[in-house]
Amino acid sequence: MDEIRQTSRQFQKDLSNLQTLDQLEQLKIKYLGRNGVINAHLMRLKDLPDQDKKKTGEAINRLKAELETEIVKKTHQLAKSDEEKESVDVTLPGKAYPKGSLHPITLAIEEISRIFAKIGFVRVSYPEIEWEYYSFESLNMPAGHAARDDFETFFIDTPADPKLGRMLLTPHTSSGQNREMKRLKQPPIRMINLAKCYRPNLDATHTPMFHQFEGLCVDEGINITHLKGTLDYFAKEFFGPKREIRLRPFHFQFTEPSFEVDISCGVCLGTGKVRGKKCKVCKSGWLELGGAGMVHPYVLKQGGIDPEKYTGFAFGWGVERTFMMKEGLKLDDIRILYNGDIRFLEQF
Ligand code: FA5
Repeated sequence: MDEIRQTSRQFQKDLSNLQTLDQLEQLKIKYLGRNGVINAHLMRLKDLPDQDKKKTGEAINRLKAELETEIVKKTHQLAKSDEEKESVDVTLPGKAYPKGSLHPITLAIEEISRIFAKIGFVRVSYPEIEWEYYSFESLNMPAGHAARDDFETFFIDTPADPKLGRMLLTPHTSSGQNREMKRLKQPPIRMINLAKCYRPNLDATHTPMFHQFEGLCVDEGINITHLKGTLDYFAKEFFGPKREIRLRPFHFQFTEPSFEVDISCGVCLGTGKVRGKKCKVCKSGWLELGGAGMVHPYVLKQGGIDPEKYTGFAFGWGVERTFMMKEGLKLDDIRILYNGDIRFLEQF
């Protein structure tokens, strides 16, 4: 029992002398470790007379518990004083955190919105998870129509609505046309619907998530020259006066006539070749940026607008592709926009 008391005194002395968490760890090993003082006491129990074993064993266990409590207390004390020491040194220079910046596509979205706002197009945004009706039926693509194949995309596993059909991640911003006609009820309409779209593609010019901007203009007397003038205006503002766009006849179910709009490629500068090889982005000197056309009378009727009185034009362009074609950028793979490489992103 004397030895146990002696250990307790020695421990208190050792404890009051130490200054750091490392020293405390050493102390813990010295007393409570496998080859420590407490275990040495326990080993010697077997040599005691039977009548002393119980009392001495209990005393050793009490001492062990006491040491453990003291060590925990001291750990807190030392940790706290370490923190205080750190927090009082106000002369240390602060940590410089790296500065973030807006993603290039966010910047492009802002620029596109500004350009259209100048000619009276109001920016709206409609659901990213959309009903089949708005993505297809309202746009003259009934169930089972072959034209849907270009768009059909990621369906949501929820029950279908008897009138609106299934839900899906919207494959194009044209789904906003019917919603905008119903929201405004009456022309004039000048909308820019700028939103995320989804399709199951991935290559140098396609990503599964991308953005489109959809223009819709409906009023009395709107004709194809207004469409062309609007697209020309946008191209000159966004790409600069030297770049050219062209309308190429095409087919969409929701416009008549329909076009695809191409721009002279900014990577190969319209030549179709880069260092003697076919340009990986456009393959021909021109890159398709989007579709356009005069709104089909069926689409106006679905939106509650009289096609005898009103006409309109619409266009839907990809934001990423448009951004890639910016003067001097020469981005030859759309995927770089979304692979999170900070060395690329921090340049904008
Ligand atoms: C459409 O989506 C039509 N809704 C466009 C339209 C609107 C036509 C209004 C007429 C009137 P298209 O499938 O061609 O059309 O897509 C338009 C543009 O979106 C493409 O030219 C491209 O710039 C962009 N795009 C399409 N899929 C992807 C993709 N997976 N990744 C990146 N951009 C894409």
